[in-house]
Amino acid sequence: QLKGIIFDLDGVITDTAEYHYLAWKQLAEDLGIPFDRTFNEKLKGISRMESLEIILEEGNITLSEEEKQRQAAQKNEHYKTMIEKITPDDLLPGVKSFMEEAKAAGLKTALASASKNAQAVIERLEVTHLLDSVVDAATVKQGKPHPEVFLRAAEQIGLNASECVGVEDAQAGVKAIKAADMFAVGVGDPVSLQEADWVIQDTKLLTLDALKEKLNK
Ligand code: G6P
Ligand code: MG
Repeated sequence: QLKGIIFDLDGVITDTAEYHYLAWKQLAEDLGIPFDRTFNEKLKGISRMESLEIILEEGNITLSEEEKQRQAAQKNEHYKTMIEKITPDDLLPGVKSFMEEAKAAGLKTALASASKNAQAVIERLEVTHLLDSVVDAATVKQGKPHPEVFLRAAEQIGLNASECVGVEDAQAGVKAIKAADMFAVGVGDPVSLQEADWVIQDTKLLTLDALKEKLNK
């Protein structure tokens, strides 16, 4: 039985996935590494340092630990200037009404983001009150596709994984939801998110009725 919804943040609740993309693209190109949207799919849902490692590997570049920290910090500064401009208007279509619908139906809600900026983003979006719990990304040991962050979210809202649905835009995120043994809703391209149980190309299509229909199939 459905008792909780666990949301990813970037690319699900708001389009900060685009800001991460732009910030990584700048960093990669400054290092002379070609960077496009196809390559970016590999970074979605992946932590800051791990993303940097993937980019450096692609460019066959070795940096000292100190230089890696500097590059990652610089990417984050760039990202932070972009998120400063976020307002509630930046919520993706239908997301807030879906969250409200979930709360009205007595469901628990949680956020399972890998981003250390998640708290700042949900505050700017003014949806903090619609989330019963937010997993602190800084305390998650194994990043997506490992299920840890989704399992922690379920635990924090007092539910079993089987009672929760996860919503993700990233390949690694969908894998994490499935590894947690939850029903996975993918937001985005059905081909890249083929491991999801239900893929919607537009967040407007995410309603409680539509979800329940998919769950009962
Ligand atoms: C999310 C995004 C990733 C990002 C990660 C870490 O998972 O999808 O693109 O790299 O969070 O974000 P942070 O804000 O901590 O650098
Ligand atoms: Mg995401």
